[in-house]
Amino acid sequence: MRTVFWQDGQVKMIDQRLLPADFEIVSFDSVDAVAHSIRDMAVRGAPAIGATGAYGMALAAQAAPATTVAALLDDLTAAKETLDASRPTAVNLSWATARLLELAQSAAAEPGATPATVAAALLAEAEALADEDVAINRRMGYNGAAVILDGANLLHHCNTGSLATVDFGTALGVIYACQELGKRIHVWVDETRPRLQGARLTAWELMHAEVPMHLIADNAAGSLMRAGKVDVVIFGADRVAANGDVANKIGSYQISVLARENGIPVYAVVPTSTIDLNLADGDQIPIEERDAREVTHIGDTVVAPEGVPVYNPAFDVTPYRYLTGIVTEEGICYPPFRESLRQAKETAEERIQATRAQRRGAPPTA
Ligand code: MRU
Repeated sequence: MRTVFWQDGQVKMIDQRLLPADFEIVSFDSVDAVAHSIRDMAVRGAPAIGATGAYGMALAAQAAPATTVAALLDDLTAAKETLDASRPTAVNLSWATARLLELAQSAAAEPGATPATVAAALLAEAEALADEDVAINRRMGYNGAAVILDGANLLHHCNTGSLATVDFGTALGVIYACQELGKRIHVWVDETRPRLQGARLTAWELMHAEVPMHLIADNAAGSLMRAGKVDVVIFGADRVAANGDVANKIGSYQISVLARENGIPVYAVVPTSTIDLNLADGDQIPIEERDAREVTHIGDTVVAPEGVPVYNPAFDVTPYRYLTGIVTEEGICYPPFRESLRQAKETAEERIQATRAQRRGAPPTA
């Protein structure tokens, strides 16, 4: 099943806060509630957040009391601001809401447009974006699988699987593609403190998919690399700057530095929607800081003295020089990343325009 979907006029999602103990679907019928679901991490992972933002825009259009298309566009602009503010690091969110707002503006300019026709166009676009996410992930997975040798031991950080996307995943998608291709692989799964996405979500996904794996404490990664037990490091990203610097879950940087020290290749696996050519380098990427409770508690158990000062950045930046390649749905980008990322982004944009033209019944442009 999909991580996030539209049903009966509501945005529905697997509640990732409860996994692996409980599997529940939660439903939201307002933009504020959808924004809260992102902030509170009922849904998380850059592409999944993007799809949720798109459905949030569709919801805003259905729920808006607007009686004119102009008023509806104002409501949608406000909805975009609310959704974008929910989490700052993953650019997929503002990328998706911008795409939906742009679509609303074109639909509003059609002859005879009404709030209802614009709302219908927005829902169709959100569904298209979610379908594209799954197709993109499969392409990306197979692109990445090409560089993974039979018998490889991979080290993976955070959760980048079906749960982090609409389905299939980014870095875990590469692992699923290897499995579909019959490659014998084994995955070292970092637990990924403080929120334990590796232990709670990646281990759960890989066990369901019957991929050979071991869960490890985050601080075991270095010694495994030194012992020759890791062939490739693979993770996703929440934003990639124009020079190839990559923001991903806190801890990705130290793994990448250790991998370099031990001569191990490092791949980030990202849809082109995660590439932000507007930012020159990783220093410009906003890094989310989250609640102290994520560090002082594990679940409901207190693991630190009451009142201890805490610093809890959710992401870090890995400078481009530590990356062997950045896998996208348009192929693997290699250094110099400034050029290869720009090309991948342009090709993807052309693909979106051609698909949109096909949906409208127009002949695709070259
Ligand atoms: O805080 P999260 O769980 O949303 O962080 C997720 C990650 O860091 C993933 O690695 C990233 O979103 C890429 S996954 C497809």
